[in-house]
Amino acid sequence: MSAPESAGRRVILSGMRPTGRLHWGNYTGALENWVQLQDTYDCRFMVADWHVLTTALDKSGEINANSREMFLDWLGAGLDPDRSVLFLQSSIKEHAELFLVMSMLISMGRLQRNPTFKEQIRDLNLGGEISFGHLGYPVLQAADILAYRAHAVPVGEDQLPHLELTREMARRFNFLFGDVFPEPEALVTKFARFPGTDGGRMSKSLGNTIEISASPEEIREKIKPAFTDPARLRRSDPGHPEVCGVYTWYQKFLPADAPQVAEECRTAARGCVDCKKQLAEGAIAHFAPLRERRADFEANPARLDEIISAGCERARGLAKDTLARVHDAMGIG
Ligand code: TRP
Ligand code: SF4
Repeated sequence: MSAPESAGRRVILSGMRPTGRLHWGNYTGALENWVQLQDTYDCRFMVADWHVLTTALDKSGEINANSREMFLDWLGAGLDPDRSVLFLQSSIKEHAELFLVMSMLISMGRLQRNPTFKEQIRDLNLGGEISFGHLGYPVLQAADILAYRAHAVPVGEDQLPHLELTREMARRFNFLFGDVFPEPEALVTKFARFPGTDGGRMSKSLGNTIEISASPEEIREKIKPAFTDPARLRRSDPGHPEVCGVYTWYQKFLPADAPQVAEECRTAARGCVDCKKQLAEGAIAHFAPLRERRADFEANPARLDEIISAGCERARGLAKDTLARVHDAMGIG
């Protein structure tokens, strides 16, 4: 076990917005990768609760409970508080100060042209009702990353525009005031579109998710009606595993069984009902250790409080050090 501040290791910062329990898609697309990264990087993982305010201000009352659920999911999945700094964004006020500084280093036009922002405006039908804070979403994200002088940021492809903006702000600061920030590099988490129970991309807003903390009964119930090869109307019809979401789950969670499943599907030697039953039992076993670890933490709220406050304490120290460098470089504060 190595201390997070150990010399020579590159620093990683990443975050997730706490909007509910994590599902198989979040796990495959991000969390599983974070767990691996702990072996080679000094990791800081942040529950981005302030970022929820930009799109769900009306649900602010749920954020604290969701943040706790997120820490439980993380600990269950194997993020290790002894090796990684696990913390809550809103507990580290230095992010807000750095956000203010960074907001001076980027133009309004550049933020308005951010493709993620333009998409959200379209999707959310916000019209003219866009808050200053929403426009500044990537500035806060830049502050999150730069507060730890991170070298790399594991993110999904959708976050690349935000990373580019972060790099621009870091460059601009360094140009004006001297080298304080590394230009953080994106570590794009590569994963094929992970299917939900309806065959489309697994996403909370589509109601097609299976949570990583789901009970065995929930897993069985959700898999039973799941989307399979629509061309397979009768049990005797040969199937096409490559279009079947259940098969993608096999590839992910039971890779040793996948070749035989594909073969038996193509030759109609297996039916979808049995195929799903087998997958459900396999997925239950796959997630059992995670679910048990999560339940242990859940049963011990004092321990969870202790882990969160210790993580925040460490994060605060790191961010304060960066802010001291910022003050020095700018000659202010
Ligand atoms: N914007 C990220 C998302 O929606 C969450 C996030 C906030 C983040 N701050 C971050 C990700 C800093 C990486 C680094 O997924
Ligand atoms: Fe999908 Fe299995 Fe049915 Fe083939 S047999 S279509 S892999 S559920």
